[in-house]
Amino acid sequence: MVKIGVFPDLTPEEAAAKVFNGATVAFSGFTNAGAAKVLPRALAARARNEHEAGRPYRLRVMTGASSSASIDDPLAQVDAISWRAPYQSAPKLRKQINSQQVEYVDMHLSQVSEMVLAGFHGKIDFAVIEATEVTPDGRVYLTTSVGASPAYLKYADRVLIEINRYHSPRLREMADITILPAPPHRTMLPLHDPLTKVGYPYAEVDPRRIVGIVENNEPDTIGAFAPPDERSRKIAAHVVKFLVEELRTGQIPPEFLPLQAGVGNVANGVMAALGESEEIPPFLMYTEVFQDSLVGLMESGKLRGASTTALTLTHENLQKIYDNIDFFVPRIVLRPQEISNHPGVVLRLGVIAMNTALEADIYGNVNSSHVYGTDIMNGVGGSGEFTRNSFLSIYMCPSIAKGGKISSIVPMVTHVDNNEHAVQIVVTEQGLADLRGLGPMQRAKAVIGNCAHPAYRDYLYRYIEKARVGHIRHDLDTCFELHRNLMEQGAMLPDLDLSQIEGA
Ligand code: COA
Repeated sequence: MVKIGVFPDLTPEEAAAKVFNGATVAFSGFTNAGAAKVLPRALAARARNEHEAGRPYRLRVMTGASSSASIDDPLAQVDAISWRAPYQSAPKLRKQINSQQVEYVDMHLSQVSEMVLAGFHGKIDFAVIEATEVTPDGRVYLTTSVGASPAYLKYADRVLIEINRYHSPRLREMADITILPAPPHRTMLPLHDPLTKVGYPYAEVDPRRIVGIVENNEPDTIGAFAPPDERSRKIAAHVVKFLVEELRTGQIPPEFLPLQAGVGNVANGVMAALGESEEIPPFLMYTEVFQDSLVGLMESGKLRGASTTALTLTHENLQKIYDNIDFFVPRIVLRPQEISNHPGVVLRLGVIAMNTALEADIYGNVNSSHVYGTDIMNGVGGSGEFTRNSFLSIYMCPSIAKGGKISSIVPMVTHVDNNEHAVQIVVTEQGLADLRGLGPMQRAKAVIGNCAHPAYRDYLYRYIEKARVGHIRHDLDTCFELHRNLMEQGAMLPDLDLSQIEGA
């Protein structure tokens, strides 16, 4: 425990008073797991006061990933964010980004630490990090996420620590923290199994940079997932059937391969379905977020172990872990996002990546981040490093959105997060298109025939028939016709009778 007097004990207001207008502040938090909690609120209160007094007060904000309820919501609410990286999912902030009030740098999450180290985003003025303990010599024991906190602690000019008394100090037994040196001094990470540990249970900080400690006693603000809907269950069933078949034919070895699952309801539902399948053997995960459905899978023995950077769990599920921590400690490794999402490790372990798209095109290019190619939803997140380097890369989404006004399968995506060279399998509730080994025309037919909603299939078939012939067929006059219709007339196919659309 921190000894009184080793570092200054501050009230949240005193701590916020130290953070000057225009500062770059790097908070702990990967999702709301392990996010700083007290300081963001105090900074929001300070911003409100400053604005009421007619003075500017806006911060450049970094986190590990999205931390909406704890960080983005309070700060965006009072217009206190001027610049944000590397990922967000907060409705208010999203609006500010899309109206260009806030600059947003949408980044591959594995690259955050390296870019901080290289100084690509300028210097970090303050790190605000939640921990269960900080020792006088600068060992910082983190809470429910590691994220980019080790890099923020190492490279920030000044550090504020939030000591959280709610979280179990035994979380450190799951932590495995290392910071990669700058190139060209990197050596291979000796990580040959998702559960191998290669680092230390703590992050390090130069104690002279700690300007103060504040205390909190709050759990993470993590909402429960809705039970999987009919479409998610169908998507999950297609994925499970596919993986079972791959196992049967020997494409996946009998011991199975580590899984990565993206964020959201669909991914959570797929994991639950995999757990229920008797044909899938007990497996490991190498993933970035450990979500609710995984707790039960681990208790049942179906999930043998998981490497992650965040325990994004509702209070009830986190409590299950704390109540039975002797069982969970040897099965969970909490790593920095630089390692949990490390492209080289993903490649070496042969991870099966399962992520979610907003839209996919008939050739397998995927847009997960920008509606109409212009409006950010959340960001690319960690999907890039997993998709590009995995043994199997699977993309999932419902075939239609907004009651059928939108087809998620389009001739050409309006923004590319992951491209046809890396995406191997596309799945909707309609079915699954296995694109491995297929040329562009074969891919288009597989995606339209298996994944597009029947109400959109004729349009898409007509598109490829009429398109200019080349290696890839496209018609540059009409490739975004569906999107233009949606923007101008409110539906991709305005004449479609939505009441007749099954599954809408
Ligand atoms: N065009 C426009 N809007 C669309 C759309 C499309 N093609 N497809 C879906 N939407 C809308 C939905 O209607 C919904 O709107 P609502 O919030 O008003 O209801 C919204 O987009 C989200 O769709 P939903 O089906 O609920 O998505 P989700 O919760 O499964 O999340 C992503 C999907 C793509 C937004 C999310 O997975 C994401 O941000 N991914 C990128 C980051 C990532 O992959 N991280 C994990 C890597 S390890």
